[in-house]
This record gives sequence, structure tokens and C-alpha cells, in this order.
Amino acid sequence: MTYILAIESSCDETAAAVIKKTATSAKIISSVVASQIAIHQKYGGVVPEVAARAHATNIIPVIDEALLKAKINLKKIDKLAVTVGPGLLTSLLVGLQTAQAISLVLNKPLIGVNHLAGHLLAPLNNKSQKFITAHLPAVALIASGGHTEIILLKKIGQYKKLGTTRDDAAGECFDKIAKLLKLPYPGGPQIAKRAALGRDVITDVPRPMLNRLGYEFSFSGLKTWALYYVRDHGLPRGQKLNDFCASIEQAIVDVLVGKTLKAAEQYKVKSIIVGGGVAANGRLRRQLTSQAKIPVLISPLELCGDNAAMIGLVAALDGRSEKLVADPNLSL
Ligand code: KG4
Ligand code: ZN
Repeated sequence: MTYILAIESSCDETAAAVIKKTATSAKIISSVVASQIAIHQKYGGVVPEVAARAHATNIIPVIDEALLKAKINLKKIDKLAVTVGPGLLTSLLVGLQTAQAISLVLNKPLIGVNHLAGHLLAPLNNKSQKFITAHLPAVALIASGGHTEIILLKKIGQYKKLGTTRDDAAGECFDKIAKLLKLPYPGGPQIAKRAALGRDVITDVPRPMLNRLGYEFSFSGLKTWALYYVRDHGLPRGQKLNDFCASIEQAIVDVLVGKTLKAAEQYKVKSIIVGGGVAANGRLRRQLTSQAKIPVLISPLELCGDNAAMIGLVAALDGRSEKLVADPNLSL
């Protein structure tokens, strides 16, 4: 049995978690996330310099809280794990340097983890090795504020990128359209909240790339479509805003679900895995689950957004380390 202390600071959440690894499973003992949403809301998005300063302030208290909640002393930690990329360079550096310092003082190994591998494996949390093996190969959809990727997961650590976005990520699209609608940051949950009260009656919202071959995405056109809609019809309010949000959300979900199902069919996989901030979207969760003919493993809500538990899970399930250098553009 080994205890892993994981640290994540790639964007605007400072997070730490403790994972207990046994021969057959990896269990989350504690997971603490200090969100910076309130700080960045007044700017309408993440300001890198501000994010790094907040990480520096929060990181030690967050680690302390994760240890306290796990009821474990720092000296009992066997291994450390930290996100090395992709993300904001100055944010990554805070987590990496803290992890390196702790690793040095404790004289315990440090594993560098790819943030995207975290989103990819989060849906496998607390599952046994036997369960995981039975569900691979899988097609994985990672949809977050910075990434939209379809990945073929042959086995843990063996990833093949099937497609990614040519421009904006799905979450970024939610965020930018929400900003246009004068809704607060982050836009995804705001749009989802209104969409739940509306109907997707605007039928001419484009579904970019849906009927193209391959697994590439493009969401920037949707933002432009929304811009022209608002220019021509004015800012939607009340029920019209709810309907507008439902229509936009349905278009994004159609593209994500359509491409994911196509990939699952082409590669004849045993399951579909879904992670990343946008995986919190109820419409996406419901529609993918109801349309797929194979099991769909979706991140529990608390592991959709950025967190350190998913980073610890990668360290426990894979165990190999990325280079211990902060890399804003690290890919899977
Ligand atoms: O994974 P994440 O926390 O951070 C990144 O690595 O980017 O993802 C954040 C993104 C934001 O764009 C946010 O608007 C979106 O996930 N998001 C949602 C929902 N909750 C968060 N998008 C759609 N529906 C939601 N319920
Ligand atoms: Zn993320």
C-alpha cells in the first residue's frame, strides 16, 4: 500500500489530494480544490499573473487541508505527483516547485503528470484494475476550457489522439458565448442553468464539422454565429435567453456526442470515457449515455473540473513520469 500526495495548479484552481494505492485499486482519500473563480470573474476570464499569485498564496494551506482530511502526516507520504503541463507556465511552476521542494525534503519520488491524462483517467476513479481492464480499449472524449480531444485509449498510458479542435475548445465556446450574453465567467454552468429552463427551438444553430470525416472539431464559427444572432435580434432575455442557451448547448452536445459515437464505432471499443469541465454538462451526460450502445464512464461531477485527485490517479494507475519541466504545450 502506498500513499500519493498529488498537486495540481495548471490553470485557476489550486488543488491537492491524497490517493491510497493498493495492488488492485487506487482510492481517493481526500481532494481539496481552492477555486479562483471569484478572483477572475471581474476580468471575465483567467489572468495568468493573478492566477500564479493566488496559487502561491493558496498552495500550502490547500496541501495542509488535503493531509488533514486524509488524516495522514506528511511523513507517511510515499510518493508525490504534480501536473507539469499543459497549462499556464507561471501557474504550473508554483505546483511543480512546491512538489519538488517536498520531494527533496522527504526524499520521496516525484511523478510528473500530464493534466490531460488526469481528465482522461478521472472517470476511472475508485474502480478496480479488473474493472478497468475489462473496459479497455476505450474511446475518450476530453472536453474542457482549453481542450477538446478524442483519444483512443488502448491501455493505461497508451493513448492515440484521433482528433482535436482546430480553434476554440468546447468549454471556451460556452465561455465566449456566455460573455456575449453578458453572463458571468465561467460560462458553461451559466448557459447550462438557463438551458435547463429552455427549449432548443432555434434550429439553424450550426453543428460545425459534425458531418465531416475524421475527429477534428471547430467551435469558433459557433461563437461568430452567436455574435451575428445577437447583432440581428438583440440580446435575448427571459425565456428567449433560456431558449437561446438550450439551442446553443444542444448544438455543442450534438457535435461532441456525434463525433464520440462515430469514433467508438470505428475503433470497435468496449467503452466510452468522458472527462473535463464540460463533462459536467447534464445534457451531454444524458444524451451520450442514452445514445451509446456500450458503457459510458463519465467523471463524477467533483472530478470534472480541475482537481488534484485525477493527477494522483494517473500516478497510481500509470506510474511513469513526464519530464519534470513545466511545459505549457505538453500533449498526450
Ligand atoms: O477542466 P476545466 O475545469 O478546466 C480546464 O482544464 O479548462 O474546464 C473548465 C471549462 C470551462 O470552459 C467551463 O465553462 C466548462 O468547463 N464547464 C461547463 C460546465 N461546467 C463547466 N460547460 C458546460 N456545461 C457545464 N455544466
Ligand atoms: Zn483541465
